[in-house]
Amino acid sequence: MNKYSDRLQRLSYSQTFVMSNKAREMKAAGIDVISLTLGEPDFDVPANIKQAAIDAIHENYSHYSPVPGFLELRQAIAHKLKRDNNLEYKPQQIVVSNGAKQSILNVLAAIINDGDEVILPAPYWVSYHEMVKMMGGKSVFIETSIEDDYKMTAAQLQAAITPKTKAVLYSSPCNPSGSYYTRAELKAIAEVIAKHPQITVISDEIYEYINYDGEHVSIAEFPEVYEQVAVINGMSKAFAMTGWRIGYSASPEWLSGACEKIQGQMTSGANTVAQRASIVGLNTDPAEYRYMIDSFRERRDLVYNLLLEIPGLKVNLPKAAFYFFVDITHYLGKELAGKLIKDSDDFAMFLLEQAQVACVGGVSFGDPSSIRFSYAASEADLRTAMQRIKDCLIQYS
Ligand SMILES: Cc1ncc(COP(=O)(O)O)c(C=O)c1O
Repeated sequence: MNKYSDRLQRLSYSQTFVMSNKAREMKAAGIDVISLTLGEPDFDVPANIKQAAIDAIHENYSHYSPVPGFLELRQAIAHKLKRDNNLEYKPQQIVVSNGAKQSILNVLAAIINDGDEVILPAPYWVSYHEMVKMMGGKSVFIETSIEDDYKMTAAQLQAAITPKTKAVLYSSPCNPSGSYYTRAELKAIAEVIAKHPQITVISDEIYEYINYDGEHVSIAEFPEVYEQVAVINGMSKAFAMTGWRIGYSASPEWLSGACEKIQGQMTSGANTVAQRASIVGLNTDPAEYRYMIDSFRERRDLVYNLLLEIPGLKVNLPKAAFYFFVDITHYLGKELAGKLIKDSDDFAMFLLEQAQVACVGGVSFGDPSSIRFSYAASEADLRTAMQRIKDCLIQYS
């Protein structure tokens, strides 16, 4: 007897967790594995945010909050969106959730019917495709490659749109590629979207601050699509608060009310203590937290130079986030250590077994010829990991 729902059976486990679990098992067996799999900053939460959480406990913020979050938090988010992005949102357009992940799910649940198409430029964040499936939608992929910096063009987007297209979902800055869309690129994309009023753009901007050399632009800045955009953001990457689970959507009122309705029946308001602490994080000048970005940049430059020395890998300089998405096409179809490398998941497993470095294969990011390394790790680990990969691959190139 099959007790499971079709919904459950449509879902896959995240490859990120498969690799990090395997790395953990190897570590437990006494093997010295360096894991570059997980996508979270390796900093502590800044002291002023921690203090705000402690104060919130003493001030007895222990009851349910309003479903879309405390008004003061939504005001702080509206203020941040104006300050950093020149975007106008009223507090009633903002819904605070248990992480950006829930914010994306709220939007999908609010707009996707069975069989509706959601366009995902690949590579995409692993959860997008699974979330679309969970909601009964159908993902339509737009392929990109290292040659175009892993970014879709407006023409590609136009070609992928059908009468069933209901949404476009992407992250900029992008996990896994570390690319971000420029103002000119987003303007061209916005012009396409504006011609299709049935389409909602879900613009995941969670890596906004981790941008090394450019201006962060939100597609919501273009007035012609403002009514069609849900901006997604949160505290996880900005303030190293991944475990505190606070994210949000900012969207037109027709959509924010729908997200609130879904969340009200699903989980209610997010954790109150973390909400109070988030107010302090958002109201602090982002320059105060710049040290995290500077440190990521140093590590990015270090790893980039080390990767360039490794035979057979093709790599671009990521401009944002904290990942390298490395093209390993050179090794596909080859036999390495007695195993045929059919795709980048096989290659990631090969690196784990032969070099004791864990990364994530690109298959679940929609790219079977690339692997993802997170460089949110110590400089010593990053140096050792790159040396191990080099020593390993030199034998096979
Ligand atoms: C692109 C992207 N969006 C959303 C999330 C999830 O963010 P949160 O922790 O706020 O749920 C992640 C986490 O890795 C991510 O990489």
